[in-house]
Amino acid sequence: MVKFAVKSANELQYIAERMAKFLFPGAFLALNGDLGAGKTTFSQGLAKGLGVEEEISSPTFTIIKQYDELELPLYHMDVYRLERAEEMEDLGYEEYFYGDGVTVVEWADNIKELWPEEYLEIRFNYVPEGRILEINPKGRKYEEIIEELTGYDYTKRR
Ligand SMILES: Nc1ncnc2c1ncn2[C@@H]1O[C@H](COP(=O)(O)OP(=O)(O)OP(=O)(O)O)[C@@H](O)[C@H]1O
Ligand SMILES: [Mg+2]
Repeated sequence: MVKFAVKSANELQYIAERMAKFLFPGAFLALNGDLGAGKTTFSQGLAKGLGVEEEISSPTFTIIKQYDELELPLYHMDVYRLERAEEMEDLGYEEYFYGDGVTVVEWADNIKELWPEEYLEIRFNYVPEGRILEINPKGRKYEEIIEELTGYDYTKRR
C-alpha cells in the first residue's frame, strides 16, 4: 500500500489525470471514503486524462454514466444509493467490469463481492492538511501503475 498526501482538489485531479495514461481495457478502480472525501474530484481528473472535455458529475441517481467516445471508454459508477445487489445485475455490470473501458466505482465497498480478482483500491481519508490517499494495488498490472506514478518498486520488496 502506498500513501499520497494531497493538499488540494487540483492536486488530486492532477494525480488522477496522470494515472489515466497508464490505464487499460478492463481496468477496475474502487474508490472509497466518506462523503466529500474526493472520489468525484478524483474521477473528474481521470476523465480529463482519458479525454473527456466537459466536467463530469457523479452518477448518484443513475448508478452509471458512460463515456464511450474515447480511445479508452470510461464507465463512472456511484453505488452509494444502491439498495439491492441485484440492481448491479440489472445494469449488466459484467459488461462494464470486463469490457473495453475503465470502470471507476465510487462507494465501491458497497459491492465488494462483485469486484474483479484484480483491482486498484483507493481510499480517501480526511486530514487537517487535506486528504491522504491510501492506494492498494491488487495484481501486477495495478502495481505497475503505482510504480509509474511514484517510482516505488514492488518487485524489489517481495
Ligand atoms: N485535498 C483535497 N482533495 C480532494 N478534494 C478536496 C481537497 N480539499 C478540498 N476538497 C474539496 O472537497 C470536495 C470533495 O468532493 P467530492 O464530490 O469529490 O467528494 P466525494 O468523495 O465524491 O463525495 P460523495 O461521497 O458525496 O460522492 C470538493 O468540493 C473539493 O473541492
Ligand atoms: Mg462523489
